[in-house]
Amino acid sequence: MRILAILYKGGNAATSEPRLLGTVENQVRLIENLDYLKQTYSSFPYSSVSESKEGPDSDFQKHIVDAEILITTPFHPGYLTGDLIAKAKNLKLCVTAGVGSDHIDLNTAVKHGIQVLEVSGSNVVSVAEHVVMSILLLVRNFVPAHEMIERGDWMVSDIARNAFDLEGKVVGTIGAGRIGYRVLQRLLPFDCKELLYYDYAPLPEAAGKAVNARRVEDLKDFVSQCDVITVNCPLHEGTLGLVNAELLKHFKKGAWLVNTARGAICDKDAVAAALASGHLNGYAGDVWNVQPAPKDHVLRTAKNTLGGGNGMVPHYSGTTLDAQTRYASGTKSIIENYLSGKAQEPQNIIVGVGKYESKAYGQR
Ligand code: NAI
Repeated sequence: MRILAILYKGGNAATSEPRLLGTVENQVRLIENLDYLKQTYSSFPYSSVSESKEGPDSDFQKHIVDAEILITTPFHPGYLTGDLIAKAKNLKLCVTAGVGSDHIDLNTAVKHGIQVLEVSGSNVVSVAEHVVMSILLLVRNFVPAHEMIERGDWMVSDIARNAFDLEGKVVGTIGAGRIGYRVLQRLLPFDCKELLYYDYAPLPEAAGKAVNARRVEDLKDFVSQCDVITVNCPLHEGTLGLVNAELLKHFKKGAWLVNTARGAICDKDAVAAALASGHLNGYAGDVWNVQPAPKDHVLRTAKNTLGGGNGMVPHYSGTTLDAQTRYASGTKSIIENYLSGKAQEPQNIIVGVGKYESKAYGQR
């Protein structure tokens, strides 16, 4: 039995901060898992933990061929393509330490009887808080204001000319699942003009009423009504490139867009062009179509017509220290359940043996 974990390198931060559990150094408490396994099972499972994930010589591609359990995180995704799955003859279980398993070719996993589980709910509050922060920093023009201060300048009008209140704006979420709903809950006290959502799964009536959110069933109609749009749906065939040049045309001029779901849901070049033309006033989030994002990725430096409107950061909204405690312990439970033959928590199963168990990865 081999457990393969592809995690991000923590460097100095991980050696001085042991709560950075999602790192190669601290290994999602894998060592504790292994102690448990050592006591429980006669044959000690061999494990590999590495950050090396790209190309045929990477640890990921070398060790996937005989791994039975693969642990990955969305923050430093080991992209398990259909070709790699075909080579992974022993692979039975993929565990996403976090939420969002699009880095795994889920349709091929279904065909090969490989289960895919994630630690559902483990970081949804962390992301929802980041979304609210990102909305505020765009609407209030925060980043250029802070940069001005660091430069030693002081010109209030240059900032105030593009700073607004969130009160009175229409805010909508694409996807009203665990994160999208928590965003709506957190926005309630801001007295927005209206809260909207677009999701093929309508909220239960009481839940919709509790956040006073109106469902809009047509996406173009939805975006045309929003001042702020936040993307909170998984990446799958139905959401890849969903926010593209054509859809952006239907956005209100000067709208703000926040994407903490997955980079590839928004077309990066179309977003950069919409910022440059003034059609979008801002774009913020922490997810990139490829991670780590290349140094010259257009969204690192894309700006609106006033030289601001960029709230992009590396993928970390769902990997706060609080979130890491939760997803590390969830990862451990999933592996323990698998090894001891116990049933998995149903909400964690994205792909069960031979079929999707989650309805969130597209209408099938
Ligand atoms: P969830 O499964 O609770 O909710 C997802 C919702 O999206 C569901 O209601 C589903 O019906 C809806 N949806 C799916 N396809 C849609 C479509 N085509 N149009 C509109 N709605 C659609 O998932 P949760 O926990 O809210 O997470 C959502 C996503 O957020 C994850 O899949 C992941 O990609 C991302 N995420 C990002 C993190 C970060 O650190 N930036 C951390 C955690 C999650």
